[in-house]
Amino acid sequence: MIHPIDRARAIERFEAIPRLALGHYPTPIEKLPRLREALGGGPRLWMKRDDLTGPGCGGNKIRKLEYIFAAAQAEAADTVITCGGVRSNHCRATAMMAAKLGLHCVLVQNQPAQPYPHTPASLAIEQMVGARIVPVYDRTERAPTMERIANELRAEGRRPVIIPLGASTPQGALGFASAASELAAQLDARELRIDTIFICCSSGGTLSGLAAGKELFLNPQTRIIGVSPDDSSESIAATVRTIVQGIGERLSIALDPTIEILDEFIGEGYGIESEAGREALNLTARTEGILLDPVYTAKAMAALIHWVRQGKLNKDTNVLFWHTGGQMALFHA
Ligand SMILES: Cc1ncc(COP(=O)(O)O)c(C=O)c1O
Repeated sequence: MIHPIDRARAIERFEAIPRLALGHYPTPIEKLPRLREALGGGPRLWMKRDDLTGPGCGGNKIRKLEYIFAAAQAEAADTVITCGGVRSNHCRATAMMAAKLGLHCVLVQNQPAQPYPHTPASLAIEQMVGARIVPVYDRTERAPTMERIANELRAEGRRPVIIPLGASTPQGALGFASAASELAAQLDARELRIDTIFICCSSGGTLSGLAAGKELFLNPQTRIIGVSPDDSSESIAATVRTIVQGIGERLSIALDPTIEILDEFIGEGYGIESEAGREALNLTARTEGILLDPVYTAKAMAALIHWVRQGKLNKDTNVLFWHTGGQMALFHA
């Protein structure tokens, strides 16, 4: 239990941390009555539309990058270096934000051994905005390659900063603590109480920020359920706990939110569409006219749908699905 005075002080510290406002906020909250009906009733369903945050179809990445780029600007950085796969939402969002802020961007990207028959859309966008692409062929090469490039740039008198994978650092995760504050204001204005939140989690920054933000801004009874599209719940939970601790250190407050992560909706693996995910994607599109993505959000929605069908969520409650974007993957882009 956090003492109200400690919470108030932590919020004051949080609000003093620099952030660039580059997205469109607050993102809407929409009711999903037809999806609910298609599931045969159950809890009232809502969606937080963070697929609409703005730049580069960046989804959840924008909130994280707003804190990361603010810190980079404070260090007078002229270049950002980050990494990911060729279709990484994080890489594309970073390239777009760097372009908007007039910074150079270097993307260390895992490429397949066989070249693509056509340029994936994400890569085409990154090239369009002038990012320098450095290919690597193994994930273990990413971090040392970023370090090497940073050293080369420093030797040329440039001022690079490295953004770790997914911007999932305590600094980046602050973006989702701020999202919790945004949600709290929206719920207050509507006199709405959300009991359970479903959200996709992978590199952990999004869930960490939201879980930390819940302790500061939301009803402490709100249950947050992370859904993994790739790694085991134990490994993501360990990362999330470390990031939450880092946020607590920044705000001088001990944060210990309950971390719940499901890993039974991964299917055959990262980036491989699952049957339940495809059904969730089609059902959400057909009932609500909302597009999910096959890699992340469809799997998270499959979890929500499964829980509703299993009667695991009380009918008299409100359940919010946090859309984190990524729809470019719908077009195998
Ligand atoms: C669309 C989408 N949703 C969810 C996530 C998961 O966010 P995080 O990596 O912060 O856990 C990602 C990033 O990997 C993503 O691109």
